[in-house]
Amino acid sequence: MDRELQHDVVILGAGLAGLRAAVEISRRLGGRVDIGIVSKVQLMRAHSVCAEGGTAAVLREDLGDSQELHAWDTVKGSDFLADQDVVRTFVETIPKEIRQLDHWGIPWTRDADGYISQRPFGGHSYPRATLAADKTGFFEMQTLYDQLQRYRTFTRYDELLVTDILVHDGAFAGLIGLDTGTGETVAIRGKALLIASGGGGCLYGFTTYSQTVTGDGMAMAYRAGLPLEDMEFLQFHPTGLVPNGILMTEACRGEGGYLRNNRGERFMGEYAPKLMELAPRDMVSRAETEEILAGRGFRTPDGQDYLQLDLTHLGAERINTRLPLIREVTIKFLGIDPIVTPIPIRPVAHYSMGGIETDITGRTRVPNIWAAGEAACVSLHGANRLGSNSTAECLVWGGIAGAEIARELPGMNAAAPLPADGVAAAEDRVRHVLAREGGENLYELRRELRTTMDDDVGVFRSGHDLAEALARIRAIRGRMGQAPVADKSRVYNSNLIHALELANLVDLAEVTVAGALAREESRGAHARRDFPTRDDERWLRHTLAFHAPDGPRFDHKPVTIDMWKPVERKY
Ligand code: FUM
Repeated sequence: MDRELQHDVVILGAGLAGLRAAVEISRRLGGRVDIGIVSKVQLMRAHSVCAEGGTAAVLREDLGDSQELHAWDTVKGSDFLADQDVVRTFVETIPKEIRQLDHWGIPWTRDADGYISQRPFGGHSYPRATLAADKTGFFEMQTLYDQLQRYRTFTRYDELLVTDILVHDGAFAGLIGLDTGTGETVAIRGKALLIASGGGGCLYGFTTYSQTVTGDGMAMAYRAGLPLEDMEFLQFHPTGLVPNGILMTEACRGEGGYLRNNRGERFMGEYAPKLMELAPRDMVSRAETEEILAGRGFRTPDGQDYLQLDLTHLGAERINTRLPLIREVTIKFLGIDPIVTPIPIRPVAHYSMGGIETDITGRTRVPNIWAAGEAACVSLHGANRLGSNSTAECLVWGGIAGAEIARELPGMNAAAPLPADGVAAAEDRVRHVLAREGGENLYELRRELRTTMDDDVGVFRSGHDLAEALARIRAIRGRMGQAPVADKSRVYNSNLIHALELANLVDLAEVTVAGALAREESRGAHARRDFPTRDDERWLRHTLAFHAPDGPRFDHKPVTIDMWKPVERKY
């Protein structure tokens, strides 16, 4: 190992949840805390900057919105798999977060009367997606980072790829990582760890995620013995730009956009007659897939299916002020202007409902490790997340976990010494990857993994396809051993980074697919053709996946249902 560092608190991930936690710890402990923020990218390149459409919060009880309504929408949207105590904490806390960001200077979009603007989002029965144009995540990140500058509490480690989370004697014992700029191996010790490293959307080829979102934190936590919860629930956003998957925010439909098939019909009338385009994402994505399968889609010259997102009736003024990023992206990438031309879209991998199991305070089973944001599963979203509840979750549980860490830190044990065997195993793993020889190609394997997920673990699933996908994923794991890392240098070795990321993706793919195969029902985003109905008797329960030598070992735990009993979801 080349360098050993130490901080009171180590935050893995510099997106919304990580920054929100850093601000909370800093303002509670002032100059008495020392935080290390570790990210494999430069801070303002965390994927949170890509969040577009809004952050859900009840701000206008005077106009009829209520926290109870937000809670009900979230529970119903989750297909009753969300923990209802968690949902209550969420809806109570997020309005304070929105106002706090306002005080911290975020440029929320405003109505003519000066109120913070909100717009409709799918599955919400009130327009409560709070917006900063269609660049909400970018402005939230910038505001939090601005706030953090007030404190001299933190050190940033950008472009440091963590390869292992060490847990020793039931406690956090350090991170091992690779300084990608120098190739040095770095160890970081701390009294407490917060994992806020985001989701794993690059499991799929057609995805809204940045190429860097490879589920590293989830995979490392899993290998370190922490269970992953509800990983079979993977969200498909209904409007990914064809052909590259860039997010065409749900705000397009929130602002009044239509979805049309090749007959010009607003087909959502057939599937969700009341909410139409603003039904929850799982339903809209299924409807789109059915339209394409029935031959009512369009096809690009190179054979990609799509439907149309039609904004042409909204007018230039609305598009330019409320959806400027969408216009910029479609013009730059496709040469089409949404003011006059419908946008080609189809369902796209967008969000992991599952993640590292935590309790309602964000704490994992290892007492000095917390997790927050998309890397975590606090059980807010259940089987299907509502749009605009994700940036909201990052803010709420970044804040909650930060407050908990700050409260406990003064009484915590000193940072544990690095366990020699853990460090050696982590170093060996990287050495082995660099020393690999054989005829396989790393990038071919990555493409095969993503194609498998795109083709067989999509909007609709079946036992047959899932079993085939699982076999292929396991074969890819075996073949990785013969996929050499061509670049042997230490400085910015992107081949090595990609090899380590692929190992993480393969672990997550295995958990996702094995969990989906086991769950013999349809619920939320998990739609099985061979088990088309929800089965509350057998499956109203969370899945827990534990790492084991031959693949995940599954267990289950009950859902907290203390307000609303499950009923059929109709929209
Ligand atoms: O469509 C969007 O702007 C995405 C929002 C979300 O995933 O919450």
